[in-house]
Amino acid sequence: MQSPWPGALWRTLLILAAAAGLGWQAGHPAPGLALGATLLCGWHLWRLSRLERWLRDGCRRRRPQPDGIWGEIYYHLQRRRQRRRDDTRRYIDTLRQFQEAARAMPDATVVLDDADTVLWSNPAAEDLLGLRSPQDLGTRITYLVRHPSFVAFLGRRDAQAVCDFPSPVGGQPLSVRAIPYGEANRLLIASDVSRVHRLEQVRRDFVANVSHELRTPLTVIGGYLETLLDSGDACAVKWQQPLRSMQHQSARMLHIIEDLLMLAKLEGQQERLPPRPVAVPGMLAAIAEDAIALSGEQQHTVRVDADPALWLCGHEQELRSAFSNLVFNAIRHTPAGRHVDIRWHADARGVHLEVIDNGDGIAPHHLPRLTERFYRVDRGRNRERGGTGLGLAIVKHVMSRHGGQLRIASTVGAGSRFACDFPAELACPRTSGGRAA
Ligand SMILES: Nc1ncnc2c1ncn2[C@@H]1O[C@H](COP(=O)(O)OP(=O)(O)O)[C@@H](O)[C@H]1O
Ligand SMILES: [Mg+2]
Repeated sequence: MQSPWPGALWRTLLILAAAAGLGWQAGHPAPGLALGATLLCGWHLWRLSRLERWLRDGCRRRRPQPDGIWGEIYYHLQRRRQRRRDDTRRYIDTLRQFQEAARAMPDATVVLDDADTVLWSNPAAEDLLGLRSPQDLGTRITYLVRHPSFVAFLGRRDAQAVCDFPSPVGGQPLSVRAIPYGEANRLLIASDVSRVHRLEQVRRDFVANVSHELRTPLTVIGGYLETLLDSGDACAVKWQQPLRSMQHQSARMLHIIEDLLMLAKLEGQQERLPPRPVAVPGMLAAIAEDAIALSGEQQHTVRVDADPALWLCGHEQELRSAFSNLVFNAIRHTPAGRHVDIRWHADARGVHLEVIDNGDGIAPHHLPRLTERFYRVDRGRNRERGGTGLGLAIVKHVMSRHGGQLRIASTVGAGSRFACDFPAELACPRTSGGRAA
């Protein structure tokens, strides 16, 4: 488009020249020029005032249609306004489509602000979380969904965390995530995971039932093999080697079954028994003795550095199983004659058990998978060493049931450090009478 400025400039110059010419004819060119400039100024002011009035009225009145530079200004303002109107319409359409899509979602979707106030929720949020729209908009979600795990989960503000709790409406299991967006808003998505839970239950029951069914025949086979080997019978002496191998293998299978049953028990027990004070220092001393017995001729040194006054509120059998797993692993994966350190202490971040060895170490790519069932770095060798591949899975479960976590650090050839971190509130100092407070 051609620029309006040359025309506007020429017109202004022409008016000023005409005014100066008329003034010159009257014998006063300068006042003539000044009068011309004043008139020009006055005309532009009048145009400005009309523009201001038109804008003040919200551009609702008919657009004035002057020529030249003012016409251009009106034209551009009008175009900009039209574009903004189109954009707004497009945004509203998009928003409507988003809302309809979110409404159709089977998952409960809730928009929260920085104070966890409900800004928007879809109909599934009413079915799964009991949130009514619009009645509950503007209310803090923790006043409406009060399950303690959910309240604690929201408070943690961890974008990666997932919270599982029963629906306050139908009791079905829900899995909730809170995804941060914008400045401090969060999008809460709650899914009904009944189907997944049912499948998990079927799997757990299957493993538990198979393990139960296998335990009895294996115990009988093991018992007969032992009797046969101890009998001194000529046949048993002749077949001693294969019989010993059969006894070893049946003992190994029994060990796997015991571990599978332990895992099934840990997974299956939803409601926990009340925690009791556990004398961990004494337990670690006993585990260290068992570890030395396991080491046998390999002559490992096992050092225990435990705070004698530090007990833990928890479940003794589970803790014993987890701790002994870590210590026995350290013995199995550390060359003969080296040492294994067991530390038990508390600091501001919590209560910690550390099992440190200077053994084989583990390559970094294995670390994230170590707690999977039957995951072994070197299958053949670990089987020989008497492992089931279930130990660390048990440790992980025990830790999660105590609200803690397992940390693994390792360097190939230098050794490994397995740390169990428990929340500080589980510490219970021993009283002078030997009982925990
Ligand atoms: N202290 C350790 N040093 C080196 N490797 C280890 C150590 N502890 C565990 N591992 C590795 O992790 C694998 C899984 O351990 P775990 O679940 O206890 O099974 P396993 O029954 O084989 O001991 C082991 O097979 C071994 O490869
Ligand atoms: Mg193990």
